[in-house]
This record gives sequence, C-alpha cells and structure tokens, in this order.
Amino acid sequence: MPYHLHISESGPPPHLAGGRLTVDLAALARNYRLLASRSKPAQTAAVLKADAYGLGIGPVARTLWAEGCRRFFVALPHEGARLRAALPEAEIFVLAGLFAVETAAIYREARLIPVLNSQSDLSIWEAHGWDGERPRPCAVHVDTGMNRLGLTAERARALAEENALTSALTPVLIMSHLACADMPDHPMNRGQLKSFQDLRALFPQSESSLCNSAGIFLGGDYLGDLTRPGIALYGGAPVSGRANPMEAVVTAETRVVQVRRARAGETVSYGAAPLTRDTIIAVCSTGYADGYHRSTSGAGVPLRQAVGKGAEGFIHGRRVPVLGRVTMDLTLFDVTELGPDTVAVGDHIELFGPNMPIDEVAEAAGTVAYELLTSLGRRYHREYVGGDV
Ligand SMILES: Cc1ncc(COP(=O)(O)O)c(C=O)c1O
Repeated sequence: MPYHLHISESGPPPHLAGGRLTVDLAALARNYRLLASRSKPAQTAAVLKADAYGLGIGPVARTLWAEGCRRFFVALPHEGARLRAALPEAEIFVLAGLFAVETAAIYREARLIPVLNSQSDLSIWEAHGWDGERPRPCAVHVDTGMNRLGLTAERARALAEENALTSALTPVLIMSHLACADMPDHPMNRGQLKSFQDLRALFPQSESSLCNSAGIFLGGDYLGDLTRPGIALYGGAPVSGRANPMEAVVTAETRVVQVRRARAGETVSYGAAPLTRDTIIAVCSTGYADGYHRSTSGAGVPLRQAVGKGAEGFIHGRRVPVLGRVTMDLTLFDVTELGPDTVAVGDHIELFGPNMPIDEVAEAAGTVAYELLTSLGRRYHREYVGGDV
C-alpha cells in the first residue's frame, strides 16, 4: 500500500518521522499504583482529557484499566465517546458538562456521566437525563474559589433542598477543584477544603472528589472518596519545588539531520543570533509545530519574546543547549562540547524524558509540563513500550 494511504495511530514510520515519541506504559502503571497508594482510603480515578494529555487515550486507558482503575474523567463529550469505545465497562465523567440540549444524546448513547457545572446544565439534565422513569447518574461541581466551572455555594444549597423534594437528579459525585494545590502552604488550600466540606455535606448520598495530582500530596481530609490525578500519571511533578516522585512516561526525541560547523561571528537561525565561538551545530527535524515551543529558543537570541532561559537536550550522556530560535520544523543544538565527530546524522537528541526532566524543559520555556505534553502533535513516530496494548 502506498505510504500516503496508510495513516496509522503510531504516526509516520520511524524512517520517515522527524522525531520519535516513546510512551512507557509500565512507568504509567507504576505511577498509577503510587498515586493509588497515596490516595488511600480514597479510590483513584484517572484524568484522560486532551487525548490523555497527548499520550494517546486508547493505550493509556487500557493500561490503567489493567491496573484496576475503573473511573475516568475527560473534558469533552466526544472524548468520552472515544474512551467508551476503548473501555466498554468504565465509569466515565465529562468535566465540561452539557453545553447544549443536543448533547444529551451522546451522553445517553455512550453512557457518560456529565459533571453539571451551571444552572443551564442542571436544567438540561433534569429534562433529558432520564432512563425511562429513573434519572441517569450525574456529578455536580461546586465552585470553591476557581471561579471557572461549578455552582456557586448559594446555588448548591438551593439544589440540595430542591432535590431532596423532587429527586430529579442522582448526583453520584460532588466535586470541586483546587486552585493552588501545587503550593502546599498556600492558604487557599485550607479555605477551599473548608468550603468543599460544607457543601458536600449537603449531599450525603454522594461521593466526594477534590484532589488533582498535587492535591493527593496534601493528603488527609483533602482526599475525600475519589482522587482525580492527571499530570502525575504522565510523569509531571505534582508539587512545585519538590523532588518529583513520579517516573518519566514520555520520551520525546528529535532526529539529527545535519551536523554543521560555523565560525565565530557567523549567525544562526531566524533573527541571526551571532555565534561567539566556533560552533558545531546539530540541526534537528522537529520544531514548534511538534510542540517544542518557540520559547525554548536559546539564550542570546535577538528579538525573541523570551520568557524562559532556553532549553537543553540530551545526547551521548551530556546536555546540549538549544542554539538560536526554534523554527516550525527545525531546532538547532550546540554540540560543540561533545567534540568533533561525536554527533552524527541519524542520532537522536532527547528533548525530554528520563534524562531531561519535562518540568525543567517546561520551566526553561516559560510554561508547564501539561502544555508540552498536550502540544506534541501527530508528526512523531509513536511507540508504546512496557505494556500489552
Ligand atoms: C477538574 C479537574 N480535575 C482534575 C484535573 C487533573 O489535574 P492534574 O493534571 O493537575 O492532576 C484537572 C486538570 O486540569 C481538572 O481540570
């Protein structure tokens, strides 16, 4: 079959791809186990929105299911329908809620549980969330300080009173979301916990859920009945400024397509960053279109909108800095320190992974691991290792 007719989940084949992405499903499973043990006595769900943070919802879902995870959160209804195809038996919550009346059908067909976030969500589900005579399960999000999604405290109180009379809704879960859990000493955490405890007490028949990855490390009363980790499953550091207890799950590598020598005084890339020494340059075939953000560009680049300090890659046991501006399809690395003839065409430089912590790269780029993972795109060759999916 001609290649252009063969579009695969794993992206282009290795010899045609500009970079490769290795997803270690065994590391993912170990991360789930660690989070589940830290969450006890609460159960541990998994957040698989945005294609499981860019890793691929199918393989991630099946791996976690094999580890005993039975409850999942996605952001959008169509993500829920995709997850349903992978896991026919799972309990699937959809964080974004209902949007509009027409979406009630997909919730019914794919057996999704909406997280009701607003008066509009409540009204739609009260009218359309029925299985014959029985209201279908839902979750209710109460806002405790994010001012993003969720019912106000007043609306939640009114709902509890109304529903005690009408039983028009069956909220199996009452949830809220922490704004500052990655900063354990932030006073917002205790304030949100107190508000959440007051509100969840209005729904004694429902389970409670407050913790994302970072919240799990707050422990104690924060844990509630169900935790909802995302980033820590995928190897991101849950708590800022602390050692990361999670294992790297994703290794992103870029292919060296040229090795060049340039002299001090010559320039590199867009914006013509001047070289201050004779330099060996590894030209690599991934760029910001592959989620290696332009803000990873090397230091000393004129006119760049710098927010970070410039990122580094890893090759042959050493770190190598990004040189000049990252472009759409290509990134340059300064490999001078490795000496002549060490880096060759066809080698791969690790952009992030076990040797180049993703949070460090994200910080250098002025962003977070979440954004690096969810912008990886479809041009890498993807390989899933360490699992049977
Ligand atoms: C409501 C909600 N719960 C849980 C999570 C998972 O958070 P984290 O990836 O920080 O663990 C998210 C993700 O942003 C979320 O929006």
